[in-house]
Amino acid sequence: MKTNIVLLGPPGSGKGTQGEKLGQELGFVRLSTGDMLREAVRNGTPLGLKAKEYMDSGALVPNDLIINLMKEKIASLEEGTGVIFDGFPRTVEQADALGSQIDVDLALNLDVDDQELVNRLTKRRTCPKCNAVYHLAYKPPVKEGICDKCGSDLYQRDDDREETVLNRLRVYRDNTMPLIEYYSKKGTLKTIRGLGNIEEIFDEVRKTVL
Ligand code: AP5
Repeated sequence: MKTNIVLLGPPGSGKGTQGEKLGQELGFVRLSTGDMLREAVRNGTPLGLKAKEYMDSGALVPNDLIINLMKEKIASLEEGTGVIFDGFPRTVEQADALGSQIDVDLALNLDVDDQELVNRLTKRRTCPKCNAVYHLAYKPPVKEGICDKCGSDLYQRDDDREETVLNRLRVYRDNTMPLIEYYSKKGTLKTIRGLGNIEEIFDEVRKTVL
């Protein structure tokens, strides 16, 4: 079984949704840089204060901040822990930094069309407390506006407004798409079509990992 897994794919491709399910099923830790940064912004930490402006516009947070954050997280894990990296690495510099600390066994790339990505992101709702993710049409909460898991009020992420989503897609193409070739050359890339039912996609994800 692969134990160090990088989830690749554009914003809205389902990295969080599939990563959460995979983490629960395998007992792996999911490290999401997006969740960590949003928490830092909410808590007003020095990292959060620096990251907010970049995140609000859909730009990437500078490499040095992210690399330091992840180095500390990885160093704090118990040896042998299975890890799912969600949203990291996002640049070749980040991928090199990760590769210098651990061996990536699998880079799993979720492939989804732009039109569907915009539809998913603009109708996404997120829990500020437990980071659970919903969609107004595809995965609505049982009670409108309330998180099924912890009962908090759901919100729309600032960067899920259409204009910012379009910028995030441009940023993805320019900075993160090169990682598809990067991991392909290392022989660890697998691409899965990320369109369709969440459970069917998860079956494919599971087959690729096990
Ligand atoms: P981050 O939070 O990582 O955002 P992202 O990569 O843009 O990914 P998303 O969380 O938007 O989407 P996802 O692929 O996880 O999809 P999800 O499962 O939620 O990063 C945010 C910002 O932080 C960045 O813009 C940047 O500023 C900064 N940042 C983070 N990491 C960084 C790094 N390494 N370097 C520099 N800066 C960094 O699904 C989306 C929606 O679709 C949901 O509503 C879901 O319910 C729905 N859905 C999922 N699957 C399906 C399906 N199969 N069918 C229908 N709907 C579905």
